[in-house]
Amino acid sequence: MTARDTDWEGVRLHVVTGKGGSGKTTTAAALALALASHGRNVLLVEVEGRQGIAQLFDCPPLPYKERKVAVGPANGAFPGGDVYALAVDPEEALLDYLEMFYNLRRAGAALTRIGLVDFATTIAPGLRDVLLTGKATEAVRRRADGNPRGRFVYDAVVMDAPPTGRIGRFLNVTAEVAGLAKVGPVRTHAETVQRVIASPQTAIHFVTTLEEMPVQETLDGVTELRGYGLQVGGILINMVRPPVLPPAELAAVARGDIDLGELTVGLKTAGIDGDRNVEEVAAQLAAELGVHARRVALEKQERRRLAAARQPRYDLPLIADGIDLGSLYRLAAELREQGAA
Ligand SMILES: Nc1ncnc2c1ncn2[C@@H]1O[C@H](COP(=O)(O)OP(=O)(O)O)[C@@H](O)[C@H]1O
Ligand SMILES: [Mg+2]
Repeated sequence: MTARDTDWEGVRLHVVTGKGGSGKTTTAAALALALASHGRNVLLVEVEGRQGIAQLFDCPPLPYKERKVAVGPANGAFPGGDVYALAVDPEEALLDYLEMFYNLRRAGAALTRIGLVDFATTIAPGLRDVLLTGKATEAVRRRADGNPRGRFVYDAVVMDAPPTGRIGRFLNVTAEVAGLAKVGPVRTHAETVQRVIASPQTAIHFVTTLEEMPVQETLDGVTELRGYGLQVGGILINMVRPPVLPPAELAAVARGDIDLGELTVGLKTAGIDGDRNVEEVAAQLAAELGVHARRVALEKQERRRLAAARQPRYDLPLIADGIDLGSLYRLAAELREQGAA
């Protein structure tokens, strides 16, 4: 596979959303690793202050500063690039912002103490969001030595974003800020942020499991973001479990068409008897197979619903022993093989 072989050529800001608990943080981390091949540097940004990334990479809580957390996979003769991580904190982002536009960091720090930051974070969520997205888009635009024609510091930025229920408002920056600031630096800043988010450089990926609720949230989210004119990215189907039986047998099991006698003979042949009655074990196994078959059938139905969104889809396996750094590399390899990175 070459460095060019991805479905998202030209995308430099990968926003990862999905229903809470579907695996956004895990998948965003795996995607960052996958993108950090061929010596490319990637920044993984967390915007909800949960320090999920630090936990995942097994390092102490991230300071409000970009810090290297991993090295991407080597690929043949190509070494991996570096993965940096940043947990964006809205208060720090506000201070940055005051410094950038008003040279007011010190005053800002005093204002934090007297509660201005409460204004920014609770009274004006639009402003809070633009500070958070602003951090990510600044990293996307940042060039080496501040030289406007220098190389990009980060080849890609991956954002572990808010869940599907909030993603539209979160990314629709200018509309949210419009009520707050019609002119002036806040407005200009929001427009700069929006230009990056609404450009072909940005794609918003959805993580889902094959269950009704997360799939529905994905479909609603896709429609909403398209309505804002944003580029919808891939659908990352997470925690995929392979079926334990071939399709024809699954179908038979789902119909309740299961030969208990045959199953019992099979179990005996396999040497499964022991203290329990083999017929009893066979009946229990048949019931479990029935549950499994129905689940597989439901999953197939959810896959069809996802297919209707007409976006590229990628499968990520359920990792049985829980997620560690090794499993992140495994998920990253899956993403690369399937062309997500
Ligand atoms: N592919 C996977 N296989 C096994 N466990 C997973 C997988 N993806 C996520 N998890 C686990 O599911 C839980 C939720 O994942 P997380 O990435 O924190 O979700 P979110 O950020 O959407 O809330 C975590 O315990 C995580 O380790
Ligand atoms: Mg998370």
